[in-house]
Order: sequence, then C-alpha cells, then structure tokens
Amino acid sequence: MTSHDTVRAIRWHGDALELLDQRVLPGIEQYLRYEQAKDVADAITDMVVRGAPAIGITAAYAIVLAAQAAQRQGAENWHEQLDDELQYLAQSRPTAVNLFWAIDRMRDCLQEKNIEALEQLAIRIHQEDFKANTTMGNFGAELIPQDTAVYTHCNTGSLATGGYGTALGVIRSAFQQGRIEHVYAGETRPWLQGARLTAWELMRDDIPVSLVVEGAAGQLLRDKNVSWIIVGADRICLNGDVANKIGTYNLAVLAKHHGIKFMVAAPTTTIDVKTKTGSDIPIEERGASEVTTLRDQQIAPDNCHAVNPVFDVTPAELIDCIVTERGCIMNPHTAAVESHMQELAQ
Ligand code: MRU
Repeated sequence: MTSHDTVRAIRWHGDALELLDQRVLPGIEQYLRYEQAKDVADAITDMVVRGAPAIGITAAYAIVLAAQAAQRQGAENWHEQLDDELQYLAQSRPTAVNLFWAIDRMRDCLQEKNIEALEQLAIRIHQEDFKANTTMGNFGAELIPQDTAVYTHCNTGSLATGGYGTALGVIRSAFQQGRIEHVYAGETRPWLQGARLTAWELMRDDIPVSLVVEGAAGQLLRDKNVSWIIVGADRICLNGDVANKIGTYNLAVLAKHHGIKFMVAAPTTTIDVKTKTGSDIPIEERGASEVTTLRDQQIAPDNCHAVNPVFDVTPAELIDCIVTERGCIMNPHTAAVESHMQELAQ
C-alpha cells in the first residue's frame, strides 16, 4: 500500500526542463525553465534542485538538452562533442553519487548516437526512481512499530527525488499503514531543508509534523515516543558508511545512546561500491556566507570566519538498516552490501 504525494520537482517537456525553485519555497512556488545544459548544471550548484536522486535525474535531462543542441549544429559526430558539458555537469556537486551514476549511464547511451534513445533513458531514470521509492517505502515501513513517532533530517521527499521520496517515502508508507502518528522534522541548518521543504511537503499531504531545531533532538529522543530516526543518503559506501546532510552523524550517535533505531533509505543508485569507506567520499564545502547569514541577513560579526561542510559520514556500525528498492540490509557491512548489489546485477 502506498500513500499519495502531490509535489513534483522536475518536469520534462521534450525540448526544455522545468525545475521547481527550491531556494524560494515555501513562500513562492515557481518553476524555472531551462533549455541549455550549462544552465541546468548551474541550477544544481545553486540548489534550485537538490537531493541526490533529483540531482541525478536533472543531470540526465541536461544531457538530453546538450545532445539536442549538438545535433542541431549538424555535425556528423554530434554525440562526441559533449565532453565539456558532461564535465561541467560532473562538477556541479561532488558528494551525491547519483549525479555520476546518471552521467555514466547517459554517456554509455550516447555511443548509440540515437537522440530518442537518449531521451527515453532520461525519462526511464526518472520513472525508475519514483518506482524504487514506492517499493522501498513499503520495505522500510514494515520495520516501524504501530502508533509511534519518527524523526527525520533534511528533505528526502518528492522534492529530492523523482517523487514520493526515500526516507519520506518510508514515512508516507508507514503513515498510510497507521504505524506513524507523528513526524519530527529537524530544521537542518544552514539551508533549512527541514523547515522550508520537509514541513511544507508533509503538511501538504496531511502527515502530522512538528518542526524542531537540531539542538532539540536529544531532548526529544529521551522524552518522546520516537522509535526510529529515518534519513536519506547522498552516497553509501561498500562497507555501509553513509554520507548524508550535515548533522546526520550527530543523530546516529544520539540514537545509539538512547537505544533508538537508525534507518537510511536510498535507492541502489546511491550505493557506490567503488567507494570503499566513508573516508573516501568527497565532502562538499559551501560558502561561509550560508552560515554567517540567514536569508541575506547577516547574523554573525563582520568578517567572522565560518566553515560549512554540507555533508557528514555516519559509520556503518551506527546504522541498523539500509533500505533500498531491493529490500533491507540489516546491520550493514561490506559482505552484506556486496551481496545486495550482486543480486541486483543478476
Ligand atoms: O544539500 P542537499 O539538500 O542536496 O542534501 C540532501 C540530502 O542530504 C538528502 O538527505 C539526500 O540527498 C537524500 S535525498 C532523497
């Protein structure tokens, strides 16, 4: 059983891409239109669209736009002229492995020199992500007890994916099944994905949510009926270490201390067996002004130094379950992740 979701971040129109501008939500709901791959890459860097699966899907459509433009130039070898665009896209954000997965898949398809096939592949990547989310939602929901509360971090919903969401997909399914009574959403400084996006998405879909500042997590986990912390991932390593939004690691440590279960929900496109452990993951650092200002208003002293790593790594031993569209990896470790991915290859 799945519940509905009403938001779509990415809309493809055959010769243009529309992205719901996540920088201005929830105040303004506006789609921006893109016809050039380079502009789409800039939109990823600037966080018009964000969330690992959504970044991958967006990059796939950007490559279709690049191929269409190259073909319009009329060169016989148009499919070999996209290296600059592919490289520019690959530099848009470094941590979310779905970006590189999508670029590799599209690059392979380019060899066929068939623009329709390329477009169909991008559409399939988009549709497969939605399907994976509804499937993993049900797998994850089976682990949630009745009448409980859960805690989530960042935004992992329809806005961050092809639809339905990863951690929010599990939450949607579990809510529909009557297991979840309440969701606590951490606000997720500095970009406030929890406050601006998760609270908005859940409220639109009538799922009861309370927004909390990140510092409230410990108190909540001690006092409230929270059974699981459920988060998404930007990259899952061969050994089960997980890169996700900064603050995820803190939550996993708190969960261990309080005996609360910790779930990571992500499609297999987020599992990167080539990255062996968390220390091999490139962690994106963004500008200090994201920390020293709030909505363009300065909140720190003039010239205050700040650091802004936007992801952290949660070690596998703090994770109870990684759930994908293939099922659950309990107590993740190298052999379990390996066999989960081998089943996929068969
Ligand atoms: O910086 P963001 O907003 O792109 O970070 C997003 C996250 O960390 C999400 O948890 C992750 O990408 C999974 S989204 C389904």
